[in-house]
Amino acid sequence: MTFQTTQIQVPEGFIDLGRGDPAMDLLPLDLLRTAAQDRLIQTDPAFLQYGFEQGDGYFRRALADFLSQSHGFPVDLDTLFVTSGISASLDLICTLFTQPGDIVFAEEPSYFLALKIFADHGLRVISIRTDEAGLVIEDLEQALRDYRPKFIYVIPTFQNPGGHTLSQQRREQLVALAREHDFLILADEVYQFLSYTQTPPKPFGAYIDLGHVISLNTFSKILAPGLRLGWMQTHSSIMEKIVACGMLDSGGGMNPFTSAIVRSLVESGGLGKNIENLVGVYRKRVDAMDELLRLHLPEAQFVRPHGGYFFWIRLPGMDVQELRKRAQVHQVGLRQGNLFSSRNALHDHMRLSISFYDIGDIEKGLIRLGRCVHDGK
Ligand SMILES: Cc1ncc(COP(=O)(O)O)c(C=O)c1O
Repeated sequence: MTFQTTQIQVPEGFIDLGRGDPAMDLLPLDLLRTAAQDRLIQTDPAFLQYGFEQGDGYFRRALADFLSQSHGFPVDLDTLFVTSGISASLDLICTLFTQPGDIVFAEEPSYFLALKIFADHGLRVISIRTDEAGLVIEDLEQALRDYRPKFIYVIPTFQNPGGHTLSQQRREQLVALAREHDFLILADEVYQFLSYTQTPPKPFGAYIDLGHVISLNTFSKILAPGLRLGWMQTHSSIMEKIVACGMLDSGGGMNPFTSAIVRSLVESGGLGKNIENLVGVYRKRVDAMDELLRLHLPEAQFVRPHGGYFFWIRLPGMDVQELRKRAQVHQVGLRQGNLFSSRNALHDHMRLSISFYDIGDIEKGLIRLGRCVHDGK
C-alpha cells in the first residue's frame, strides 16, 4: 500500500537540483483558504453544477482584467478558455487538431514532458534550433521548405530548459510564417509572470487576431500546481472548434469549482501579491545560483536567466548522463540535457532549477555536484 501524495519524492538528505516544482513553503495555503471560505459561505451553488464549456464567465472576467493590467493590452474575456493546466491543454489540442503521423515542430531543446504528450498522439517532432534569442528563424524557414507542420510548440519566455526569451522581432517573424504556411503556434507562456531582471516582450495573446495562435498559460507556477487550473487565449475560429468537442459536451467546462475559488483570489488582488512574493524569492535564488555555480563549478558555461526556473548549463566534454549516475551516489540530482532533445543530442548539457530549494540547499547541492565533476568519481 502506498500513501504517496506528491509526484516527486526524494529520499531524506538528497538534493534534486533538477526538479522543476515549487517548494512546499511557497504554496499559498493561507491565500487559498481565505479564497475558498469567501466562495463557500455564499449561497449560490452554481459552481457545483456542470460548467459552461468555455469556463465560468465571472472567473474569465476577473482573469481578463488581471491579464489586461499585467500585459499592458486589453484582453477580452471571450478570447479566454479555462483549462486544467497546460499539459491538459496540449493533450486536448493534439486530440482536436492532429492525427497520428502528423508532423509538428518544437524547439531544440524543449520541455521534455510536452514532447511526451506529442508522442502519446503519434506525432512526429521535427526540432528547430534555438539560440540566446530563442527559435532561429532561418532554421524554421529551412524546415518549412521540407515539411508542412500542423503546429509549432514554443516556450517563448524564460524557456524550459534554455532560459532564453524569443525576441520581439522573431515573434513577429514567427507569426508571419504561421500565416504564410498555415500552421498553428502553440505558445506555452508558463513563466511569463516570473521575470526578475528583464521585462519580456508581450505574450502571444497579443497576436491571436490573425487566427493562427493559441497562447497557453497556467496557475501551476504562480499559485499552485495542485489546482490543475490554467487558460488558453485564442481567436474565435479556434475557440469554436475547442468548445464543441465531445469531452466538454459530456463533462461541461473544466474545473468550475476550482475556478470559482481562484476567482476570489484574483479579484482580491491575492494573485498579484503572490506573484510579487515569488519573484522576490526566486530573484535572490537566481543571483545565488549564478554566483555559486561560478564558485563551485567554474567550467560550467551558461547564460544567467532573466526569469523562470532554469539554468541551462553546458559542461564541455562531459557525458552528463554518466555524471548524473555519479551524482545520485553523492545525493544530488540534475536533469540531463538529452531529455530535452527530440534527436537524442545535447549530452553535454544539464538543467538545474531554483524552484524547489532555498539558497542554503542550492549551495550544498552545488558543492556535491562540483565534487562529482572534479573528482570524477
Ligand atoms: C514549459 C512548461 N509547460 C508546461 C508545464 C506544466 O504545466 P501545467 O502544470 O499547467 O500542466 C511546465 C511545468 O514544469 C513547463 O515547464
